[in-house]
Amino acid sequence: MKPRILVIDDEAGIRDSMRMILEYEGYDCLLAATGPEGLAMAEREAPDLVFLDIKMPAMDGIEVLERLKARSDAPPVVMISGHATVSTAVEATRKGAFDFIEKPLASDRVLLTVRHAVDQRRLRDENVTLRRAAEARHEMVGDSPALERVRDAIGKAAPTNATVLILGESGVGKELVARAIHRNSLRARERFVQVNCAAIPEELIESELFGHEKGSFTGATEKQVGKFEQADRGTIFLDEVGDMSAKTQAKVLRVLQEGEVERLGSARTIKVDVRVIAATNKNLEEEIEKGHFREDLYFRLAVIPVQVPPLRERPEDIPLLVRHFMDYFSRENNARPKRITPAALEALQRLRWKGNIRELRNTVERLIIMVPGDTIDAPDLGSAARPGAAATSAAAPRPGAEVDQAKSGTLREFKDSAERAYLVAKLRENGWNISKTAEIIDTPRSNLYKKLEQYQISQETDG
Ligand SMILES: Nc1ncnc2c1ncn2[C@@H]1O[C@H](COP(=O)(O)OP(=O)(O)OP(=O)(O)O)[C@@H](O)[C@H]1O
Ligand SMILES: [Mg+2]
Repeated sequence: MKPRILVIDDEAGIRDSMRMILEYEGYDCLLAATGPEGLAMAEREAPDLVFLDIKMPAMDGIEVLERLKARSDAPPVVMISGHATVSTAVEATRKGAFDFIEKPLASDRVLLTVRHAVDQRRLRDENVTLRRAAEARHEMVGDSPALERVRDAIGKAAPTNATVLILGESGVGKELVARAIHRNSLRARERFVQVNCAAIPEELIESELFGHEKGSFTGATEKQVGKFEQADRGTIFLDEVGDMSAKTQAKVLRVLQEGEVERLGSARTIKVDVRVIAATNKNLEEEIEKGHFREDLYFRLAVIPVQVPPLRERPEDIPLLVRHFMDYFSRENNARPKRITPAALEALQRLRWKGNIRELRNTVERLIIMVPGDTIDAPDLGSAARPGAAATSAAAPRPGAEVDQAKSGTLREFKDSAERAYLVAKLRENGWNISKTAEIIDTPRSNLYKKLEQYQISQETDG
């Protein structure tokens, strides 16, 4: 679209020459002879740029500028200045004018200014669009009372600097909650740095979090700035915080207490101003009992605990979520939007959703891709809604003959051997591709890695 430019000047000669210069270059040109007329036109026509004379009868340019800038979506304003008003023009740039040009008007100077202003505005619009898209991706959908309570907690916690501990099963939306808190906090313009404590190998987590100096350990060929330092003035999100080793827990506790970090291999302490949000799907109180988690760290983290309820406790959110994901994946796959029947929605509401919203999301994506017609109906859910036994937790995984029931003395041992056999079977099915298997059985990859280690599963041991 052609950029639209409004010229506000009381001198007819200036208006005419501006129109000639701008229209010759293909811009749309609007003209106003007085301040009030110009303001009305700006309101009506939403120009991309305004040229504004400083000295005008009735209302001078500075006042017009102030009124233009008072609106939320104000266009850039370039002041037109006579010889006598240059100092006023400079003053105007302090009041938000983009630039000024001097009379007599030189056409190349005018055009250069236009290009700068239009480019800058386009860039800003693009940023707004990008930010909106990112926000849409992290939008929290649902209007159940249970989710309203979470929103409420977010609203209360956000403007404070207090540490927040987000609790809830896998896939309930803990990360979304963390981002919402940051977005609504005074730190929203600063960084949100996420660390998945379960995904980083034990021996690397400290240098991830705190950084290291070059040569501080074998392999430290470059200096690294830690996540805490990166998050300075912003927010750090310690995801899966229940999976940190005892040593890391002690160091994190120290950062929380002292507000300073030390890079590995350095004796210097660095002050950081970081807001901490942590999340876990573990029951930390149990972990404390078992001696796996420090109680003092727990109290430091859980200043404001936020519990995110599982999806099965808020089935009234399911229709909204399904529509939201249907829209999203139709757009994503350039597919024609589908309809879903009330019967199918009801059936989805009855499932247990052990993997919570993540599982629902994956299911909707599969349905969008797999169901051939325009309408998703209850019978379509049968095959498409269920990769393995994920959706219906009622149907337990069938690991088959590999579970050696005779050897499984306690319930715990039985469960473990069943889980192990299930994982081996799924990995085999997927050619030992970890990412793919994790996706299909709907567990975070980090969790699958943990399980492999726990059960000592590897392709080699799978004879
Ligand atoms: N209320 C919601 N509205 C829309 N999408 C949601 C909502 N809650 C969660 N999601 C989506 O579900 C998926 C899982 O959410 P998220 O990653 O925040 O869960 P989590 O609790 O951090 O899970 P985990 O413990 O496995 O890390 C994401 O794709 C997220 O965008
Ligand atoms: Mg998460």
